[in-house]
Amino acid sequence: MKKLEDYVVSIKDFPEEGIIFRDVTSVLQDRDGLKLAIDSIMEELKDIDFDIVLGPESRGFIFGVPVAYNMNKAFVPARKKGKLPRETVEMEYDLEYGTAIVELHKDAIKPGEKVVIIDDLIATGGTIEAIVKLVEQLGGEVVRIAFLMELEGLEGRKKLEGYDVVSIIKYEGK
Ligand code: PRP
Ligand code: MG
Repeated sequence: MKKLEDYVVSIKDFPEEGIIFRDVTSVLQDRDGLKLAIDSIMEELKDIDFDIVLGPESRGFIFGVPVAYNMNKAFVPARKKGKLPRETVEMEYDLEYGTAIVELHKDAIKPGEKVVIIDDLIATGGTIEAIVKLVEQLGGEVVRIAFLMELEGLEGRKKLEGYDVVSIIKYEGK
């Protein structure tokens, strides 16, 4: 039987030389791969109690919504600045070149609610670090952070120290 990592196609030198791009679309475009990905994330969450799945735009939406739906939880999107129509909280974070801003609707998480964050990939950890701060600013509690893939060489976990971080496929490099 194929394992989840068997569905991930790695592309050398994309988007630039020296980078190996781990492509989740190759998982999604295979119905067995898609099912295995969603089932594997749910398996990582079955032992905890939580209220909300939060997924960052855009690849976090792909995995967050089916997990939330199947586990009968709410879904909250974290979006890039300027997309959410109501009152928001925002946080800047570093990209390889420059910075970006992520936003949450202010009323999306209520004090005391337990939040699971799901994304396809942890690289530097900058995206999720910013989102964790926003969840906590709203009074939510981050009870687990689950990734499909982790680039261990970038040490993104260090930014999330003290949190319960799980990943399904671990790549040693960057
Ligand atoms: C990618 C990926 C993660 C993030 C990881 O998203 O989907 O969300 O980068 O990087 P980090 O750990 O260094 O913060 P990207 O911002 O490229 O946008 P996308 O999901 O819309 O493709
Ligand atoms: Mg992303």
